[in-house]
Amino acid sequence: MAIKSTTNLSEKNLTRLSATLSLTRRGAGGEVNFWEKLKKPILALAPMADVSDCAFRQIIAKYGKPDIFFTEFVSADGLCSVGRDKLLIDFIYSENERPIVAQIFGSKSENIKKASELCKELGFDGIDINMGCPDKSVEKQCSGAAMIKNPALARECIRAAIEGGGGLPVSVKTRIGYNKNEIETWVRELLSSDITALTVHLRTRKEMSNVPAHWDLMKRIVEIRDEIYFAKGRVGQKILILGNGDVVDTDDARRKCNETGCDGVMLGRAIFGNPWLFCREMASAETWERDGASTRNFSAEKYPCSPEAISLKERLEVMVEHTKLFQKMLGEHKNFAIMKKHYKAYVNGFDGAKELRMKLMEANNAEEVKIVFDRLFKI
Ligand SMILES: Cc1cc2nc3c(=O)[nH]c(=O)nc-3n(C[C@H](O)[C@H](O)[C@H](O)COP(=O)(O)O)c2cc1C
Repeated sequence: MAIKSTTNLSEKNLTRLSATLSLTRRGAGGEVNFWEKLKKPILALAPMADVSDCAFRQIIAKYGKPDIFFTEFVSADGLCSVGRDKLLIDFIYSENERPIVAQIFGSKSENIKKASELCKELGFDGIDINMGCPDKSVEKQCSGAAMIKNPALARECIRAAIEGGGGLPVSVKTRIGYNKNEIETWVRELLSSDITALTVHLRTRKEMSNVPAHWDLMKRIVEIRDEIYFAKGRVGQKILILGNGDVVDTDDARRKCNETGCDGVMLGRAIFGNPWLFCREMASAETWERDGASTRNFSAEKYPCSPEAISLKERLEVMVEHTKLFQKMLGEHKNFAIMKKHYKAYVNGFDGAKELRMKLMEANNAEEVKIVFDRLFKI
């Protein structure tokens, strides 16, 4: 029972969790920096609170696994408080999600250190510090995007995570600035630190998600990274840079990496209703080259797992599977309303979608969702 000594979850929940998941701890030492082993371009699934939970990640791992998973973000202060058990639900993962990085936020370096120790103990492959979240309740704690205004504190928190993580690679996810483009100062600061990877959501905090992501800045961010690397005498590994914002699919991701020189891309909203997002990566590179798939010239027969090849029935079957898994893994801890966001995305773009969505919005559990599905397909 791997998580027993780190949580006070009830015996019943522990049994259930350990039966359904292979939540494990790894012993100290022996871990490798997984980032160095990844092939470029690196395609990552973005952390998304109440979206990329352990149930959805399982569905994605089955139908189209990205190169890296991130957990939803979890408060480092919360992990160091009496409320820890509840938050540990967001750190549930399964072995088939590796490499998986735990994302934390916070501004108290002692808590960042303790939370990082816990991430190591829970067997995560890496630790990511959120320095971009615009949520007011997060910013009030001087965390998330508020870090952009306090580079000295950001540096202290990175050091604390490296110390607490005991050898785990530490990465940061941030934005290009707070009110304006600050890549020459803020992003440069992060690229001068000892992090292993940096994800840049190419918008400012002020812009939220209201303008197109500034992909035109990515080339310069890569140049800044290279300038620092050469100035330091090319010692060690270059910090890996992932771009984020508005990437629609893996072709788009590859194109953006080619055009800007970044090492990878993190995709977020494109996964909504489309767990097959990363599945074209399953086709061998050779097949891709031969068929010119990277120029979008692929067909359903050649790439049977491509999203375009998925029938409506298959898509909705997976929606039902996702719902059942959510209920099984998280039903006791999370509100079923979380699934409704997914229905909006799964049930879209066909005749009768609106009526079906309305029926699903009334469902209260997986059984009721299955009944709606069965009636639709007259099963
Ligand atoms: C519902 C939702 C929840 C999110 N939660 C997180 C989070 O927990 N941590 C984080 O770093 N970013 C979070 N984000 C931001 C995304 O990771 C990503 O930066 C943003 O959606 C832009 O990428 P995209 O255009 O590919 O979606 C969230 C975004 C959404 C839409």
